Amino acid sequence: MKIILLGPPGAGKGTQSAKLTEIAKIPALSTGDMLRTAVREGTKVGIEAKSFMDSGKLVPDEVVIKIVKEFLESDACKDGCILDGMPRTLKQAEMLEQLGINIDVALSLDLADSEIEKRMSSRRVCPVCGAVFSMAVNPPKFADVCDHCSAGLIIRDDDKPETVRKRLAVYHAETEPIIGYYRARGKLKEIDASVSIDETTKALISVLGIG
Ligand code: AP5
Ligand code: MG
Repeated sequence: MKIILLGPPGAGKGTQSAKLTEIAKIPALSTGDMLRTAVREGTKVGIEAKSFMDSGKLVPDEVVIKIVKEFLESDACKDGCILDGMPRTLKQAEMLEQLGINIDVALSLDLADSEIEKRMSSRRVCPVCGAVFSMAVNPPKFADVCDHCSAGLIIRDDDKPETVRKRLAVYHAETEPIIGYYRARGKLKEIDASVSIDETTKALISVLGIG
């Protein structure tokens, strides 16, 4: 099953993608995580992506599709996969279709803008394994240390309030239209993401029929 996780910044895509990976035993790809790794390692893609990410803008479609194509065509995806944060524009959705990649379901995590800044201000992430924590609702066992790989947790560069506001504006302008795209194809499932992490996971499991 090929699953897309849609939703505004901070809706819980990364958090839920980690849970679904364990439950459904299929791999997940977060384009955001891949781009952050590329920036950290100073690769060509990373150098190209950095200024877009730092200012809350989207990285050009062609850069992102290249990364995703490789992943989707790999052996790891033969039984299905989860795409977290991709597609992000109508052009990316069309590019996937043109590549012959058939998406089974697009799960849209719905959350009001007013909740998002709150969640972002509590977020800590692991720069090594990508694990996501919340100092408010899902703190690490030891302060600022990743539960999974013991690396030091960080605050993402783009979690500054002004960058979060810019990312939200970009989401509404460029990503939200994708909801209609998948609705028109009968593939959209909308999930209330304002409830707890566990309740959101339960709703996703039920919609996917994997519980
Ligand atoms: P990306 O990393 O994808 O960021 P995003 O979409 O803005 O989403 P986030 O990762 O910020 O939030 P999330 O929904 O994953 O929430 P999380 O689970 O962390 O992209 C970053 C940048 O990369 C983009 O701005 C762009 O520049 C570039 N990029 C990436 N993909 C691209 C693409 N396809 N095309 C072009 N450019 C691309 O949760 C947030 C916090 O809330 C955490 O602290 C978590 O613990 C907490 N939380 C989660 N669920 C709950 C809950 N139910 N209740 C309370 N707290 C919760
Ligand atoms: Mg994320």
